[in-house]
Amino acid sequence: MNISDLKPIFVLNGPNLNLLGGREPEIYGTSTLAGVKSLCLETARTLDVDLVFEQTNHEGALVELIHRAGAEGSAIVINPAAYTHTSIALLDAIKGVDAPTIEVHLSRPVARETFRAISYVSLAAAGAISGLGAYGYALGIQAAVHLAKARAKFKT
Ligand code: DQA
Repeated sequence: MNISDLKPIFVLNGPNLNLLGGREPEIYGTSTLAGVKSLCLETARTLDVDLVFEQTNHEGALVELIHRAGAEGSAIVINPAAYTHTSIALLDAIKGVDAPTIEVHLSRPVARETFRAISYVSLAAAGAISGLGAYGYALGIQAAVHLAKARAKFKT
């Protein structure tokens, strides 16, 4: 199978990530969300796969984006932001769709406040990348394509 036959990779971003660049730059870096999107598009281009990039501040909207990714995409890369640590709805959404999911965080939540050490999303994610800033998204997309490709081969 040609990798370009893969359905798009969905890169989904949760609350407050629209503030990147100005938001606690000592923790999250100085890249804006537009900069992160450019990096993601460039990574997808080099891997010859289409990419959908979305951000929302609303939990239900994120659930619906996961459903859409399950129907229209081949894999998910998600930074659920604060919903990582609170949302059983996101966990159930990821478990409910048939798309390998990579969890990405700019910072390293386990090395911060104790409430950030819990990730509901990790219970359903195939893998997780944290602490590498925006570069983690590029690695996440590579991992997502790898898993989607392996799955497509397995199914043929
Ligand atoms: C984050 C880490 C979360 O704990 C936090 O709530 C965020 C961003 C990260 O990318 O490091 O909003 O997901």
